[in-house]
Amino acid sequence: MSWARKNVIDLDDFSKEEIMAVLELGKAFKDSMNSHPAKSWDTLRGYALANMFFENSTRTRMSFQLAGLRLGMHVINFSADSSSLRKNESFEDTIKTLDAMKVDAMAVRHSENGAPYKVAENTSAAVLNAGDGTHAHPTQALLDLLTMWEKGLDFEKAHVAIVGDIVHSRVARSDMHGLRTMGARVTLVGPPQFLPPEFGDKWAGVCYDFDEIIPHVDVLYMLRIQKERQEKTYISSAAEYMSMYGLTEGRLARAKRGVLVMHPGPINRGVEIEGSVADGPNSVILDQVTSGVAVRMALLQLCLTGKMAP
Ligand code: CP
Repeated sequence: MSWARKNVIDLDDFSKEEIMAVLELGKAFKDSMNSHPAKSWDTLRGYALANMFFENSTRTRMSFQLAGLRLGMHVINFSADSSSLRKNESFEDTIKTLDAMKVDAMAVRHSENGAPYKVAENTSAAVLNAGDGTHAHPTQALLDLLTMWEKGLDFEKAHVAIVGDIVHSRVARSDMHGLRTMGARVTLVGPPQFLPPEFGDKWAGVCYDFDEIIPHVDVLYMLRIQKERQEKTYISSAAEYMSMYGLTEGRLARAKRGVLVMHPGPINRGVEIEGSVADGPNSVILDQVTSGVAVRMALLQLCLTGKMAP
């Protein structure tokens, strides 16, 4: 195949071949990063990346920045709080202003669903969705798939449980699309207030009993409770949530021996996952972070040049 995509805004229209192209290039970058002391390439020298983050981030923002720098890009970081948005400039005019500076790519994070589509309407730069509202987080899903694939997961035979605050999670939505395209079975797990039954009808199986599903899955993908997106109180206490849906050492002992423990971060220790499990031998949470730099390098290179090898 040849790469024809300029923007990465959702994963719902990615083919299996496109996902594999990202994973293969991401793996090549990750392998080189692990063995190459300088960790740098010239592929995108002279291109400019604008990190347009209208919502907080550690992993996604820093990894886009590092990905751009490692490929030789100029990287500029937009901060909503210190921008002219605070002088009532509109979102659209802000994007047009950056476009006029001739940036080549924009990584966009926003609390509103669909904001990256609005960006794409107002720029000729490549647009990479770095997470929009509850809608999509495609680069997170691709780095998750790379991590699973590198750990030897056979997608066609794998059963993945995504556990927790499904209703507010853009990560759950993008992971479901990516995993389903790759042929994996997905079960969504959580209390009814976080998991309306129609989610299962559309995309995956649904299970309200975490203890029942634990022995049957190959990946336990834990989610943070997203208080910043909740308009009402969803849980009475962190302790009660942990007792029913938290990944504890006791629960992990009932899982398959090589089960992968994953989490997109940031983690809330003692709420959805015990600290010792997050730091334990089954956890690949920090490996997901490493994959994040590699996958974002792959996407920048693919979307800007179509080149499919490092
Ligand atoms: N996983 C993720 O999106 O983390 P950040 O919010 O820190 O970018």
